[in-house]
Amino acid sequence: MTLRIARDVLLLVAKRPSRLVKWRLQTNLFRGRAPMSDRIESHLKEDRRFPPSSEFSAHARIRSHAEYTSRHAASLEDPATFWREETQDLVFREPWKTFSEWELPHAKFFVGAKLNVSESCLDRHLATSARNRAAIVFEGEPGDTRTLTYFELHREVVRFSAALLDLGVLPGDRVAIYMGMIPEAAIAMLACARIGATHSVVFGGFSADALRDRINDLGATVLVTQDGAWRRGNVVPLKQMADKALLETPTIRHVVVYERIGTKLAPFSLKEGRDHQWDMLLARTPSAESLAKAKGPEAFDSEHPLFVLYTSGSTGKPKGVLHTSAGYLVSAHVTSKYVFDLKDSDLYWCTADVGWVTGHSYIVYGPLSNGASCLMYEGAPNFPDAGRFWNIIEKHGVTILYTAPTAIRAFIRWGDEWPEKHDLSSLRLLGSVGEPINPEAWTWYHRVVGKGKCPIVDTWWQTETGSIMLTTLPGACFSKPGSTGLPMFGVDIEVVKDRGEACAPNEGGKLVIKRPWPSMARTLYGDDARFKESYWSQMPGVYFTGDGARRDEDGYFWVTGRIDDVLNVAGHRIGTAEIESALVSHPSVAEAAAVGRPDDLKGQALVVFVTLKTGQPADKAMKAKLAEHIDREIGKFARPDEVRFADALPKTRSGKIMRRLLKEIASGSLETKGDTSTLEDLSVLAKLRANDDEA
Ligand code: WT7
Repeated sequence: MTLRIARDVLLLVAKRPSRLVKWRLQTNLFRGRAPMSDRIESHLKEDRRFPPSSEFSAHARIRSHAEYTSRHAASLEDPATFWREETQDLVFREPWKTFSEWELPHAKFFVGAKLNVSESCLDRHLATSARNRAAIVFEGEPGDTRTLTYFELHREVVRFSAALLDLGVLPGDRVAIYMGMIPEAAIAMLACARIGATHSVVFGGFSADALRDRINDLGATVLVTQDGAWRRGNVVPLKQMADKALLETPTIRHVVVYERIGTKLAPFSLKEGRDHQWDMLLARTPSAESLAKAKGPEAFDSEHPLFVLYTSGSTGKPKGVLHTSAGYLVSAHVTSKYVFDLKDSDLYWCTADVGWVTGHSYIVYGPLSNGASCLMYEGAPNFPDAGRFWNIIEKHGVTILYTAPTAIRAFIRWGDEWPEKHDLSSLRLLGSVGEPINPEAWTWYHRVVGKGKCPIVDTWWQTETGSIMLTTLPGACFSKPGSTGLPMFGVDIEVVKDRGEACAPNEGGKLVIKRPWPSMARTLYGDDARFKESYWSQMPGVYFTGDGARRDEDGYFWVTGRIDDVLNVAGHRIGTAEIESALVSHPSVAEAAAVGRPDDLKGQALVVFVTLKTGQPADKAMKAKLAEHIDREIGKFARPDEVRFADALPKTRSGKIMRRLLKEIASGSLETKGDTSTLEDLSVLAKLRANDDEA
């Protein structure tokens, strides 16, 4: 979600600078032009408390701090009993024998259980009042709407499952999904779950090359895509992009194409024998065997792989985070229920894209396993105008909104007049995810969107954690703007120093998770050694999150951001090494270093320092070429905000690029702070700074 929003915001910003400057002066939003570092300071000093209203608490699933504390304690002291109680409404064909098995870094949960994840999300609702309730309320970008009840969603998933079975998809096969935000993306995911295939959704903003690499890493045999997706009035030609990838993906046997746009605006070709139109495929009568299997699906082992989702790490190669069945489902289910306080009467809207983990856990598996009604929106937040989100909330009567700080900051810039034009009184709960929310954005969200009456849940988690780890339960705990709150059930989390000893209250350190939890990533697809290395080797016996944090005297966590070589640009995770390896693959580039610079809107902006090969012109045209190269290698969202040319990069004597120094230069700090004694050639620094204006 976030990066798409960021892209849109940036385009808007670029087009209307004068208006933005005006807003900025009017709202005094960022306290004049205080640099980000000062705002972080203010963030750290923030300590206001916002308790839920007694009315909200009275109807909440968890109603008091004491109740939260006792449930949290129970979840750690006697997990087997706790989770047995909390999973009563999920469908297990065979109950588990052991709650967990743990041999670092490998965990198993609900050992011995057999289940079909899709049954908990679909079939179980057919015998209840949820049968005719909206499962997905879809709003297309052009304004078209479509509602699928649980009955209808189940029916569509069964049909698509049968079609996949007829294509020969077997349990454990990998299916890549390259789609936009349409119900068919969720249908495809659930159909994979139903037949035991492992899905891997590749965000529609990724380039053909990125799609190709993911398909090949997985050895996927089927690709599900669509003709095109609407994006701010334009069509993103997904099938055409997929066709480029498919030139170099030898394992793909079948491609299914859903027609969202129609051939007039999104023409595409079908390769005979390989490509199938979704509607035609489903119109075929499935074999009796496939239909029977789709209707009464097989139960799989609790540790059967459910999906792989690629995310960025500290090397150039993305990590294929693998999640399995029971533990993931249980955690997504329980966190959705309590964090969003889901009720049958809610219309819940998570603005994330299904291409990210938030879309997996909090559009598909979590809410649907609770029988919730979920809004799904296809397009941009500023199409046809900056009031689109508020228009959607009013039109459909959304009660819970879960979005990202980068989006909130964009809304602030666009002006209060947009939300004020709409009736937002249906809202009762707000959520935030993806990056630390600055108190100014929190306060605006609370006042202008929530009208001072909606609790805000700031939720900290990661692709690897699978589900929300830190938050404040909305009817039970007060929130503090900028703090991501307290541990969720089953989460044993701490801030520690380098050698693993606990930090004192308010002392900054590394955020680690001290024992395995049910929705934890099980491995990195095809690279178990990297799994251990990345997460379980930094400090003995604990999971290292890659984030820095402190915990205050109330036990509330304050996450300060990544402390590894990963950036968070507009709530999207970008590995510096990924950008660097993309850049050095360009024939003109000798060396590159990517760093983050604080940014008002995106949290962090991406700055790259590039040393060109001898004789290559360091000019504007080259910058444009390098940006296009990133578009091609990764996707438009990873485009650097700034490209700087350098004769050489600052290095230590052992040849390591000194990123810390580059970061300081990128953020415009004039003096070099810290130790530079290991810097190989000090003149390099002076030259880099002198190059500042040339950009
Ligand atoms: C990283 C994980 C969680 C789903 C979306 C991102 C940052 C995420 C928060 C928050 C402060 C946050 C962390 C984390 N992050 N939520 N509420 N407060 N930081 O998933 O792409 O795996 O990124 O996002 O740095 O490590 P992801």
